Amino acid sequence: MMGYMKDTITQLKNTALEAIAAANSLKETEELRIIYFGKKSPFTDILKSLKNLSTEEKRKIGPLANSAKIEVQEALKAKTEALESQFDAESEWIDVTAPGDKKNSGHLSPLTIVQRDIEEIFTSMGFEIADGPEVETEFYNFDAVNVPADHPARDMQDTFWAKNAVSKDSSEKECEQFVLRTHTSSVQVRYMELHTPPYRIIIPGRVFRQEATDASHEHTFHQFEALVVGDDVSVANFLSVAETFFSQFFGKKLKIRLRPSYFPFVEPGFEFDISCTNCGGKGCSSCQQTGWLEIGGAGMVHQNVLVAAGYERDQYTGFAWGFGMERLAMMKYKIDDVRHFHSGDIRFTKQF
Ligand code: DAH
Repeated sequence: MMGYMKDTITQLKNTALEAIAAANSLKETEELRIIYFGKKSPFTDILKSLKNLSTEEKRKIGPLANSAKIEVQEALKAKTEALESQFDAESEWIDVTAPGDKKNSGHLSPLTIVQRDIEEIFTSMGFEIADGPEVETEFYNFDAVNVPADHPARDMQDTFWAKNAVSKDSSEKECEQFVLRTHTSSVQVRYMELHTPPYRIIIPGRVFRQEATDASHEHTFHQFEALVVGDDVSVANFLSVAETFFSQFFGKKLKIRLRPSYFPFVEPGFEFDISCTNCGGKGCSSCQQTGWLEIGGAGMVHQNVLVAAGYERDQYTGFAWGFGMERLAMMKYKIDDVRHFHSGDIRFTKQF
């Protein structure tokens, strides 16, 4: 029995040492570690079987098995360390003069770029960014912003109405027809209901109109709304915010001009222009020689809108504006047709 055990140990040790000597990768040394010292280690088996031997035999075989195990362990450790420290010049060699491996990266849509620019400028002025649903209730899209039921803006011509619009919700507001929101003004009252003034927000988002499309009209486009409500908000505040924003956005000092106009959700209401980004106001072909570029609608928030949100009449004042993001991108990048944005033509986006 003893002779047999001795042979087994020697054989095991020699086989292991040979395998270790032959290994020339860390993968192989790791495999050997698992074979010889993993869960089913042959050394453990040997040490376990010692219990069948007499005390005298144990005294001889025990140290033999142990020293074989240690010898193999050390050989494996030495080999692993040697492999780890080996510097493989060939595989690590790089040609620093070789041309780069050009990755094909995607392109941001000019709209995304413009939206990010807008958000950055406004957040730097302390504005928050708000959001709302694109499929909107008639209430938030129209009633809440003071567009009465007989207003032409509700007409089937202007708006996409959803079929089967009656919601299961028992609240009166939700039991209405749904529309694809026609403007981002629909988020105004949603936000007001959940917040107490003062606040300043912008609402960028997608809107929909039943339009005959042409170079400046699309059925799907983007607007961004600004809304500031507080104790003493004035038209002067609007002018200052607008001037700061447009000057930063176009990277040059611009002036703002107001023209009286009508929007149901503001009183007084106006349309506003910026001094021409091309000629600075002298008059050129971009501004039809007027020196001004039309931007969008704005005004002091109508008290009916604040009341629709649950505020007391005349408790707060505010200003709001809204206009097309595509239009802004078209002005900045000199894009001549709004239909490019949704054309899916990759040659268009690749330019930005
Ligand atoms: N919602 C208007 C539109 O889509 C734009 C607008 C005008 C928004 C005046 C406003 C505003 O907040 O004060 O045509």
